[in-house]
Amino acid sequence: MRIAIAGTGYVGLVTGVCLAEKGHNVVCVDTDENKIAWLNLGRSPVFEEGVEELIAKNRDRLTFTTDYRAAYKNSEVTIIAVGTPEKKDGSANLSYVFQAAIQIAKSIERDTVIVIKSTVPIGTGDKIAKIVNDNLCHRVNAEVTANPEFLSQGTAVKNTLNASRIVVGVESEEAERVLREVYRGFDQEMILTDRKSAEMIKYASNDFLALKISYINEIANLCELVDANINDVAYGMGLDPRIGGSFLQAGIGYGGSCFPKDTKALHWLANFHDYEIKTIKAAIEVNENQKLKLIKKSQKYYDSFYGLNVAVLGLTFKPNTDDLRDAPSLQNIPILLDDGAHVKAFDPIGEPNYRKVFPTEVEYCESIEETITDADICFIFTEWGVIKQFDVSKFAQLMKNPIVLDGRNCYDLNQMKGQGVVYESIGRRT
Ligand code: UGA
Repeated sequence: MRIAIAGTGYVGLVTGVCLAEKGHNVVCVDTDENKIAWLNLGRSPVFEEGVEELIAKNRDRLTFTTDYRAAYKNSEVTIIAVGTPEKKDGSANLSYVFQAAIQIAKSIERDTVIVIKSTVPIGTGDKIAKIVNDNLCHRVNAEVTANPEFLSQGTAVKNTLNASRIVVGVESEEAERVLREVYRGFDQEMILTDRKSAEMIKYASNDFLALKISYINEIANLCELVDANINDVAYGMGLDPRIGGSFLQAGIGYGGSCFPKDTKALHWLANFHDYEIKTIKAAIEVNENQKLKLIKKSQKYYDSFYGLNVAVLGLTFKPNTDDLRDAPSLQNIPILLDDGAHVKAFDPIGEPNYRKVFPTEVEYCESIEETITDADICFIFTEWGVIKQFDVSKFAQLMKNPIVLDGRNCYDLNQMKGQGVVYESIGRRT
């Protein structure tokens, strides 16, 4: 099939390369000329495993362009995968989605199925259907469908090629037929529903995962108070298949471009309908507090960070991505800096992006050793493999005062015993 995709962010680009891998002819569209130039060189503008390999492998079926008119004109399917960032009031900013819908409507010259992959509030599909119909320039039929994605950054290609499910919200048999054709090469079950239910499945899934994380973080906080171990508790809980073991990793809260935004958007939507979704409200509050958990713990050791050397390991919102959006480090480092700390930081991939936010305020290091040398305290914000595999005996050897506050439970407690380190983590005996 000829498929056009609006937006070459994580979702659009990964969807594009994976659909090309499955044999479709795909044209990826973006307004950002630099991104398109980069992609035409075979390079991915986002750090995501497997994307560049799939671009190289499917070169003859993949095109990247800023010329949206040419791209949308004759495509059989056009996918909207542009961003829906959070607005100040917590609702989703749909201006990019609406703009893409108008551009598509004005460009198409044949019957087309428009697929909304961006995460959009329930009911947006109806609005887009109206926008499209109001802006069509030719006598063609444009069906609007909802087809949310469930990929995670860092494993996005794998998640797309082996998705847990394919959710499709359609309002006509023709749209169903076309979507079945798009996903013919995929083995997963296709869940067919109406457009609004498909939109809801996306929010309800993400918010449930966020809820699970906030729940385990609260249990971890209680574990600290009653001297229990959250790792064992989570393991014991997760063996019950009704609970499941994933997303029970306690820490300093969830970040990223999805959970913070999607929890707030659902909360906003409920309020809009004069309803309060109490569980999600609580998950958001718990997460905000959890992000500052290590700073609170550090007050036991220092009244102020003024003049102290503070080592920070991990800056991104999770490992295997260069994405900083809503990363706990972005809340914590300004507190340290405002208090007069000298902050040295290490992140294997996220450093160039962090430099854009704090170009001079933070001293960036090439290695963990360099970061912790002479440090008065060390904070761990992201569980990168290289941090988890670090030789922990070096903390005592290199730090001025070996206090390690670990927000991601990177080390086994037995491993830390006898190392001459004050080690605190989340929800575990110290
Ligand atoms: C999330 C969902 O997992 C995807 O299914 C969804 O498609 C995606 O959002 C999206 O809406 O696009 P992502 O934001 O890439 O994916 O990252 P996750 O792996 O879910 O992690 C999110 C945050 O939760 C991270 O900060 C991570 O550290 C934290 N987390 C995750 C925990 O604190 N504990 C856990 O047990 C799991």
